[in-house]
Amino acid sequence: MTFFKAAKMKKTLFVGAAVMAAAASGLAYAAGGGGTGNYKMEHVHWHFKGAMGTYDKAAAQRGYQVYREVCASCHALEHLSFRHLGDKGAPFYNPDFPNPNDNIIVKNFAADWQIEDIDSDTGDIIERPGVPADDFPDIYPNAAAAAGSNGGAIPPDLSVIVAARGGGADYLYNLLMAYDTPKPDYVELTPGLHYNPVFEGHKIAMANPLSDDLVEYADGTPATTKQMALDVTEFLAWSADPKLEQRKGAGLMTMVYLSLLALMLWLSYKRVWRDVEH
Ligand code: HEC
Repeated sequence: MTFFKAAKMKKTLFVGAAVMAAAASGLAYAAGGGGTGNYKMEHVHWHFKGAMGTYDKAAAQRGYQVYREVCASCHALEHLSFRHLGDKGAPFYNPDFPNPNDNIIVKNFAADWQIEDIDSDTGDIIERPGVPADDFPDIYPNAAAAAGSNGGAIPPDLSVIVAARGGGADYLYNLLMAYDTPKPDYVELTPGLHYNPVFEGHKIAMANPLSDDLVEYADGTPATTKQMALDVTEFLAWSADPKLEQRKGAGLMTMVYLSLLALMLWLSYKRVWRDVEH
């Protein structure tokens, strides 16, 4: 086989493979399997991205309000205790209360939840208001109850969801924003499923949880759907990576230290070798 023939065959094979790949992705699209269909993903400029990123505290505080008033009826925060809200780098950190157990806001938030406990005198199961040391409670007694209340689908824990999903914060934000996308005719929904082109398979058991003015923000910010989606994502980005600010701060200190060390090494090298021909 001449070189030219081989090259031509390669080209034909390549074009053939490309056509097949395009056809396959078209089929997957038609089946609602891949991509985000007729929805265009929005890339948000998150405050916490980048080498020196920090969380937007006001946004994360509003995000907690959205979680508490909207998402918490179905989704738990398994990996969080109330006191974590008042840790350094957390949305409600207050330097006057280095110990978050003393933070008044955190205490109030905890007391707003009912926690199951055992009465130490009678041994009965009781409910009492939460304290900062308590974990966020489970929403359902077990997985069967969670599925039973949600048409067979289990609302996942949200505390690490931003880290657990490819696309992270952008995924969560767009998932919440994509509900208004018109449903193409070829997508058929069974009762209890909703069209959401960002969700894998495009059919989700969660109804659109947000609508304009669903909450009344404590800080007076207008509660548009977009604002709430941004804010709850900021809060859940923090809960998925609460040590981000400390880590980035330590990284900066390390860079400063290494730069100074390099400078001193260079100066001492100059000094040691100053009278030597080299
Ligand atoms: C009425 C109950 C309910 C409420 C309220 C609710 N969800 Fe859901 N959510 C669900 C259910 C059920 C699922 C599982 C959907 C599925 O698997 O099809 C789910 C799934 C999710 C997922 C996972 C998507 C994935 O990629 O697997 C995220 C993220 C989520 N919800 C975020 C939120 C946020 C944020 C809020 C509050 C703004 C919220 N949910 C409010 C019931 C709810």
